[in-house]
Amino acid sequence: RQLILPRDRSLPPEVFHWIPFFGSAASYGNDPINFLTSCQKKYGDVFTFILLGRKMTVALGSKGNNFILGGKLANLSAEDAYTHLTTPVFGKDVAYDCPNEKLMEQKKFIKVGLSADNFRTYVGMVEDEVLDFMNRDPSFRTYQMNDINEWGQFDALTVLAEMTILTAARTLQGKEVRSSMDKTYAALFSDLDGGFTPLNFMFPNLPLESYRKRDRAQKKLSDFYVGIINARREGRSNNDETDIIAALMTQTYRNGNALPDHEIAHIMIALLMAGQHTSSTTGAWTLLHLAANPDVAESLYQEQVTRFSNPDGSLRSPTYDELRTLPVLDAVIRETLRLHSPIHSIMRKVRADLVVPPTLAAPSKDGQYIIPEGYFVLASPTVSQVDPKIWYNATQWDPSRWNDIDGEAAKAFKQYTDENGEKVDYGFGAVSKGTESPYQPFGAGRHRCVGEQFAYLQLGTLITTVVRQIELRIDAVPAPNFHTMITMPKQPRMINYRRRKFA
Ligand code: HEM
Repeated sequence: RQLILPRDRSLPPEVFHWIPFFGSAASYGNDPINFLTSCQKKYGDVFTFILLGRKMTVALGSKGNNFILGGKLANLSAEDAYTHLTTPVFGKDVAYDCPNEKLMEQKKFIKVGLSADNFRTYVGMVEDEVLDFMNRDPSFRTYQMNDINEWGQFDALTVLAEMTILTAARTLQGKEVRSSMDKTYAALFSDLDGGFTPLNFMFPNLPLESYRKRDRAQKKLSDFYVGIINARREGRSNNDETDIIAALMTQTYRNGNALPDHEIAHIMIALLMAGQHTSSTTGAWTLLHLAANPDVAESLYQEQVTRFSNPDGSLRSPTYDELRTLPVLDAVIRETLRLHSPIHSIMRKVRADLVVPPTLAAPSKDGQYIIPEGYFVLASPTVSQVDPKIWYNATQWDPSRWNDIDGEAAKAFKQYTDENGEKVDYGFGAVSKGTESPYQPFGAGRHRCVGEQFAYLQLGTLITTVVRQIELRIDAVPAPNFHTMITMPKQPRMINYRRRKFA
């Protein structure tokens, strides 16, 4: 038996574990949501568990989300929690390899590129790429044969991963990246991605080939972007692009300095890594649920028919502004993100002792809980997103909950106001800095996602383009695999499809 020493009463309760350093690594790693919710039942919303020597204090529920995501910079640091994972992959001087104030400026620069004007040019590009892919990829052979009676099959995640990287390359990353996609770029991305895993998070430096490949790929990819920037600057390539490289090349820091080339390159890599798996898995989960719920897929299709039919029965492309006004599409994506948030754990490192407010965890008889400097804190909005106290049929995929204005989802949101006391708008691609919400698939606070509206555009266009072409079927939606950084559907995840009559 473990030697049990008297616990410091100011510390939050600690989850019992048998093996000292290892702690709860196995239960957390295999199924974090189940682990966190069962600990919540036992210890309440705030508790600490051991993860390979790290002390992780969890704060759950909307108040827990607020406590961590709305925490003060002086207390909580994302860079101290993430830099060992991200810097070897993104490169120096961006994201978590610089002071937070610099990251905040970098996020503003990115937002300049993620403008509605640019988005208006992206919808057609995404649609083109998806159709092109369906017309050439072997998974869509029966679709290509134009046979409406023949069923085919595709792997939801493999197909979505390809469609996501192609569409992001065409839009955000720019034409030079898109035209290198089949050659160097895809291989470099794959090597870099092999260095962005839970193993890399736990052990920053191991003498493994995957770590060496990661480092080589980072350098090559960084040089590749610097090459693009130089060519554009020297006018060897035209400069009227609507991608993020173009936006970053025109920005200056508050101190008047332009972004150095290597920072632009590293921001582009960071965006690639931030957007690829998050969007591709969300797309895969969405198609899997649509395949398992043909009635919802049919309403999604009918929404397209009602809104975009040409007189001859064919469907015209939506504009970006129209894409934002489709309630079924919006609810389908929103509901998929509720159940399958790609990022299940958001972490910070404690820089200065942190007092847990009594509204979050009732103080013990010795006073309020304190989370000491050096601990990590962990928020998991995914847990509040499936909390049966907030959501009816919490674990069931039911997009209609978002369209029911008197329903539980709407009620949960009516309770929620932002930091200025304003009711938060949860419309398509809503952006709010409010941190106390039970629904935060894009995080909240200073580290909130900048890619949300792009993700909705990309996923919305991609999913409707697919659903316009084919019908989808699957017997059951696969279980989630938590062993990757991003929560992905386990194999097998083959979707059966058949070409639509009028596509
Ligand atoms: C941050 C989720 C797509 C770029 C975040 C965070 C979450 C998130 C939860 C907060 C992380 C934290 O607080 O530690 C998602 C989901 C996506 C998605 C669910 C798609 C469905 C994208 C895309 C991009 C992007 C497409 C780029 C175009 C970023 C950036 C940050 C971020 C730059 C800021 C990191 C920081 O400030 O520390 N995202 N994301 N994301 N995301 Fe996304």
